[in-house]
Amino acid sequence: MIPSRLFSIAVLFVYVCSGKEPPKLPLKWTARINITAHHVDKTKDYPPWLKRMKVLYDYENKRFRAEFEHTNRTVIRRYDQGKEFLVTRVDEFIDCRKSKVRESMPAPSLPKEAFYVGEDFVLKEKCDHWQEDFGTLQVDIYFSIKTGALVRVQVETVEKTEPVRLTMPDLTYDVFEFEEGSPKEELFALPADVKGGEEGCERQPNDIGFPYVHIFHHYYRA
Ligand SMILES: *[C@@H]1O[C@H](CO)[C@@H](O)[C@H](O)[C@H]1NC(C)=O
Ligand SMILES: *[C@@H]1O[C@H](CO)[C@@H](O)[C@H](O)[C@H]1NC(C)=O
Repeated sequence: MIPSRLFSIAVLFVYVCSGKEPPKLPLKWTARINITAHHVDKTKDYPPWLKRMKVLYDYENKRFRAEFEHTNRTVIRRYDQGKEFLVTRVDEFIDCRKSKVRESMPAPSLPKEAFYVGEDFVLKEKCDHWQEDFGTLQVDIYFSIKTGALVRVQVETVEKTEPVRLTMPDLTYDVFEFEEGSPKEELFALPADVKGGEEGCERQPNDIGFPYVHIFHHYYRA
């Protein structure tokens, strides 16, 4: 009796000390994301201080699409089919490029170093607050307690720690209109304004591809 009780207490002790279990990251969802660069001059058009995108994310079926609303660009990555597209629009001009995709889709992940801070209200949502601390930089990560939805990631510079900690935001990813579930496959088709379908897209030299999109800092990229 006593050894088994001691064992239970030991297990409980280890559990409590190791903190809260990391959240299960949603693997398939649709959302809009605003990315705010806090140090960019808001009176100038370029570079943009606010980037807006609509994201369709499906890690289970290995598909990704982003509509960049501030530039009218579209990125489609079909890891399931080994190909990707970048559609650029300037005034009436439309340009579609394609490439092969050889790597596999990066899995979303929260770093092991992230630790649980507590509960916080962000974008009117009661959130679990996680943090990564790099000394002069910290990253705050928020998930809805009720639904597990992504809510915000914010990269901050630590200005001082004494007498009180003071941080200034550098970059914020705000997620809204989040809906969990696999987006329908037809939503990953080429946009209708690309004439001639895939044949109308120019191949990237050597299929070098397009840069990753950081969707939710680098915890989600595709
Ligand atoms: C995202 O940006 C749009 C355009 O400025 C704004 O209307 C909207 O309120 C923003 N949403 C969030 C959650 O920041
Ligand atoms: C994106 O497209 C809309 C609608 O055609 C247009 O009003 C807007 O100026 C375009 N934005 C850019 C950055 O080209």
